Amino acid sequence: MIGRLNHVAIAVPDLEAAAAQYRDTLGATVGAPQDEPDHGVTAVFIELPNTKIELLYPLGEASPIAGFLDKNPSGGIHHICYEVDDILAARDALAASGARVLGGGEPKIGAHGKPVLFLHPKDFNGTLIELEQV
Ligand code: CO
Repeated sequence: MIGRLNHVAIAVPDLEAAAAQYRDTLGATVGAPQDEPDHGVTAVFIELPNTKIELLYPLGEASPIAGFLDKNPSGGIHHICYEVDDILAARDALAASGARVLGGGEPKIGAHGKPVLFLHPKDFNGTLIELEQV
């Protein structure tokens, strides 16, 4: 079902500093910050040869990243995103297997303009998984 690793998302306490570190210290190609109000984050995308890194910083009052940073003040890996061909088929197969699909199971449009869903971390070894239809 799952295909390529689309990205690894890292919650960061200082978006500008984290972006500068990836650009200047690690020598990566770092994009401009993008506000994603539907997801409560500001994101910076980093293009690597084989995948992407997304730096996430809270946006707005009810950001899911704010609570994560409260528990992990120095930041940390927030989720990983796998590509799927058909997000509704993937959702239905996962739900049938007993996995919990977050947000009522309806895909939202993600950071790359494609439908995404999130799976409960308790069902996947403590890892929040995002599925993105490509
Ligand atoms: Co993501």
